[in-house]
Amino acid sequence: MKLAGKVAVVTGTSPNIGGGIAQGLADEGARIVCVDVAADNAQQCAEWIERRGGESLGVVCDTTDEAQVEAMVTRARDAFGGVDILVNNAGILGGQSVLDMPLERWTRQISVNLTGTFLCTKHVARVMVEQQRGGSIIVIVSTAGHQGQAGNIGYGTSKSGLLNFTRAAAMDLAPHRIRVNSLTPTATDVEEGLERAVAWGRARPERRGRLLDFRKMIPTGQLPSPRHYARAAVFLASDDAEMITGFDLRVDGGALAKYWPWIPGDGPRERE
Ligand SMILES: NC(=O)c1ccc[n+]([C@@H]2O[C@H](COP(=O)([O-])OP(=O)(O)OC[C@H]3O[C@@H](n4cnc5c(N)ncnc54)[C@H](O)[C@@H]3O)[C@@H](O)[C@H]2O)c1
Repeated sequence: MKLAGKVAVVTGTSPNIGGGIAQGLADEGARIVCVDVAADNAQQCAEWIERRGGESLGVVCDTTDEAQVEAMVTRARDAFGGVDILVNNAGILGGQSVLDMPLERWTRQISVNLTGTFLCTKHVARVMVEQQRGGSIIVIVSTAGHQGQAGNIGYGTSKSGLLNFTRAAAMDLAPHRIRVNSLTPTATDVEEGLERAVAWGRARPERRGRLLDFRKMIPTGQLPSPRHYARAAVFLASDDAEMITGFDLRVDGGALAKYWPWIPGDGPRERE
C-alpha cells in the first residue's frame, strides 16, 4: 500500500476520471474526500469507496466559491485529521470557437478550471504548511492545454494556464516540502466510466460516438482509461516521487510525442 495513512482530497468525482482516480488512491490505502458540486457525484463516489472497504467522505462544494472551499477543507481535516494529497480534477469540458464563445460560458469555464484549482490549492496547502509533513498536489490538465484545438477556446486556454500554475505553485510550496505536479490525460476511453456509473447504481449512460476517430490517431492504438491516470496519480502522490515537483506527467498514449502528420491507424510511418 503506497498511500497507507494518507488523506486525499479529490475534486470532480464523477464516475469517469475523478471517480477513477479516487478509487485508485483508495486502493493504495488513502482515505478519500470526494468533492463535487453535484451531490450525487460526491456521495456516490464516497459510498463506492466505502463498499470496496476504504474510508471516504463525500462533500458537496463549488470549488469556485472560496467560503465553500474553506468549509470543505475544514470538514476534511475534522474527519480525517489533515490532508496529504490534493487532486485538482474538477473541470468543465467542451466549448466553442473564439468567434462564438459566449462571455458567460467563457467566464464559468475559466473560473472552474483555473480559479477552482487555485482556491483548492491555496486552502489545502495552508493546512499542509501548518501540519509540517509535506504533501502532494496534482493538477489534471489535458492534451488540449498543450496544443491549439479548434472550437474549444476556453478549455484549451484554461488547461494551458494550469501548466504554468503548476510550476509557479511548485516554487511557492517547495520550501514546505509540498510537491505540485500536473498530469496530462487525453481523449479517454469511455467504457470504464460507464461501468463505474452502473456500479454506483446508475442507468448505463449513452455512449458518445466520436472516440473511434481518436483511437486511429493515437500511437498506442488504445485510448487511456481512468485507471491509467489513477496509477500515475498514485505515483505522483507517493514517496516514490519525492524529488519530482513542477513536472507534467503525460498519460496520453504518445499523443503529444507524435509527429503531427502521421496518422497511426493509416499504416506505417514511412508513408509520411
Ligand atoms: N474525458 C476526457 O477525455 C478528458 C481528457 C483530458 C482531460 N480531462 C480532464 O479530466 C478531468 C475530469 O474529466 P471527466 O471527463 O471525468 O469530466 P466529468 O464531466 O465527468 O467530471 C467533471 C466533474 O467536475 C465536477 N465539477 C464541475 N464544476 C465543478 C465545481 N465548480 N466544483 C466542484 N466540482 C465541479 C462535475 O460535477 C463533474 O463531476 C477534467 O479536468 C477534464 O478537463 C478529461
